[in-house]
Amino acid sequence: MILDFGGGFFLRRATAADHQALAMICLKTGDAGKDASGREDDPDLLGLLYTIPYQVLEPELAFIVDSPAGAAGYLLGAAETAAFNASLASDWYPDLQRRVADPGSDSSHWRGSDWARHRIHHPDFAVPPALAAYPSHGHIDLLPQARRKGIGRRAMAFLEERLAARGSTGIHLEVMPENDDALRFYKAIGFEVVQVPKRCLYVAKRLAHAPAIAG
Ligand SMILES: CC(C)(COP(=O)(O)OP(=O)(O)OC[C@H]1O[C@@H](n2cnc3c(N)ncnc32)[C@H](O)[C@@H]1OP(=O)(O)O)[C@@H](O)C(=O)NCCC(=O)NCCS
Repeated sequence: MILDFGGGFFLRRATAADHQALAMICLKTGDAGKDASGREDDPDLLGLLYTIPYQVLEPELAFIVDSPAGAAGYLLGAAETAAFNASLASDWYPDLQRRVADPGSDSSHWRGSDWARHRIHHPDFAVPPALAAYPSHGHIDLLPQARRKGIGRRAMAFLEERLAARGSTGIHLEVMPENDDALRFYKAIGFEVVQVPKRCLYVAKRLAHAPAIAG
């Protein structure tokens, strides 16, 4: 256990045995924080795009919020977004592209998870210049039973501390513009909104230098 949130909730390191849980939680929060199960025809693609590669490529910053009833959330980070994206391009996407068919570029024909299939074949790994001061990025998603208990606040503080100890000067996260609850959360914990034209919304925060943390 890394952090004890109380009430049976705790933070621990994610392992390869958590891939199914990472995919499930990603799906259950994948529609701007709400359950995307009804929208997707392949329940695995969201996790293969947005959560599992963190455990594989940057396992020291991949964590599960666990509970007596099982995994109830995740906290994922990448210290250097540009380097992480380069690893995605060389070590993660080629296999995904072999396994998933490209639905083509005409989005009027897309159904179910075709948008995700398209993204797998046409990824955008460029880091917007507006985010240059925030080289790290993260993801946090909690299932409903873990929300509004202060877990998000403590988990993000922990991730920020870990990143600062590794010398990171800032962190950003991507947020769907319609996810009002998440935007309120990030603002409450000191993030500012960074607008990037033609992209989702980002929230970002500068990190102060902190002493190195072992483990
Ligand atoms: C967004 C999320 C990570 C926040 O974590 P959390 O543990 O629920 O938030 P906390 O309890 O730590 O809240 C910290 C502060 O954020 C604000 N906040 C959090 N959730 C909020 C909500 N739904 N509405 C308004 N303010 C909220 C409050 O100011 C809160 O402080 P308070 O409890 O003293 O009022 C979590 O609710 C979640 O995973 N939601 C669904 C998935 C999602 O949207 N993830 C983010 C994708 S970018």
